[in-house]
This record gives sequence, structure tokens and C-alpha cells, in this order.
Amino acid sequence: MTKVVRSPAAWQRLRASALRGKSVGFVPTMGALHAGHLSLLRRSKRENGVTVASIFVNPTQFNDKKDLEKYPRPLAQDLALLNSAGADYLFLPDFRAMYPDGYRYKVTENDLSRALCGAHRPGHFDGVLTVVMKLLNIIGADRAYFGEKDYQQYLLVKGMAEAFFLRAKIIPCPTVREKSGLALSSRNALLPPKLKPLAPELRRALVESSSARAAAKTLARKGFKVDYVEDRLGRRFAAAYLGTVRLIDNVKI
Ligand code: PAF
Repeated sequence: MTKVVRSPAAWQRLRASALRGKSVGFVPTMGALHAGHLSLLRRSKRENGVTVASIFVNPTQFNDKKDLEKYPRPLAQDLALLNSAGADYLFLPDFRAMYPDGYRYKVTENDLSRALCGAHRPGHFDGVLTVVMKLLNIIGADRAYFGEKDYQQYLLVKGMAEAFFLRAKIIPCPTVREKSGLALSSRNALLPPKLKPLAPELRRALVESSSARAAAKTLARKGFKVDYVEDRLGRRFAAAYLGTVRLIDNVKI
């Protein structure tokens, strides 16, 4: 049975008593769990004595209020999934618990966070890095697992952990995809049924196009509103809207 802990102080007491000396693997999430999250949990369970997930829809990383409001929150279903995946604990804080400072303090990265998604979502990575710093400090994780679908996020978190000498090792895990090639994402649930069949074209365009520019053109022709397609660090990154839903993906090139 997955045990739910809501307050940072309660978790820290547990970490210092019953969980003292145990290796703790951590899977931070915003809920609406899918097979991608479950693959992170499985890996954590293989590599650690105790596995803890968190669910916190972090307002500071949403630059669009509507996006925050419509973000899916199927908590009962998430709890059932965590149970069946064998997660030992769920850390489930509220905003006040996570931001006693009201977000006066934040972590800012000044280079990679301004590119790709950061160029289109002002403040997004400040919110991500700040909440991940808080979560890593609270949980006292030995290892934390991040999906490669959010590759820019993974690189920024890893850089932060190194820059601030954090205890947790940041571990990337491969993107889990539907048979169609569509990367699993909590946002896929928001795609209207009429647009869903188009969504796998995002990855197809990244893989099959001869350049980032060609991929952007193909996507626009197919009906996506493209934020960016860019080659960087040996990968091709993209973000594009289908209707009002923003999808991201990246592939090795
Ligand atoms: O990838 C996510 O779900 C979020 O950005 C994270 C890492 C849980 C921080 O809120």
C-alpha cells in the first residue's frame, strides 16, 4: 500500500527515523500518471530500498493560467496506479507547504533555460528548478528519475544538482511511446479525439526530415502551430500546438 505524506516536516521526520540509512529513489511528478511515469518508478524500485513519488501541480512553472487550470488531476486513479506499481510513498503537498516564502526565493539558470521551451515559456524553468530543488531537499533522495521526453528539463536539473552539490544523482530514463510513436504525456489526455490521430506526426517529422527547418515546415503543413524545431546537443527538439494543446518531443540525431 502506498502511504501518503502531505507535509515536508512529516516526511523529514520519517526520513530521519524509519527511513534512516535506506537508499531512497524519487520520482517527482505533476500527476495524471501514465506508463512513462511507471517506467521511472520501476527503475527506482530496482535501484533503491525505498521509492517515493510526489504529485504537485506546480503553479510557478505555468506561464499560462489557463494551462494550469485545465491540467488534469485524476488523484484517485493516480493513487491506484502508484499502488499497483509498488511505490512505497506518495508525497502530496499543497502550495502553502511548498512555498512558505510565497516564491520570493527562486533558482535561475541563465543559459540553457532561455532557449527552446524557455524562449517560449517565460519563467517556466525558474519554476521547475525551484520546485525540484525544494523537493530534492525535502525528500533527501539518493537518486531522482526524469524522463527524456523533457530532455531540456533533465539537463537543467542535472546541471543544478551539480552546481549546488546536491546529494541526489539525477538519472535520465528513455521516453515511453505509444505504438504510433507519440511520446506519452499527461497533456495527451487533453487532445480532442479529432486531433489525436495527428499527434504522432510530431515525432515522425523530427525523425524523417532532413533538417529542423524541413521538420517545422512539414508540421505546419499538417496543421500544427510550431513554437520551435531546433537541433542542439546532438538532438532535435520541438514544441508545437495541436489545437490548444502544446506537445513537446525530442529525438537523437
Ligand atoms: O516533469 C514534470 O512533471 C515537472 O516539471 C516536475 C519535474 C515534476 C516539476 O514540477
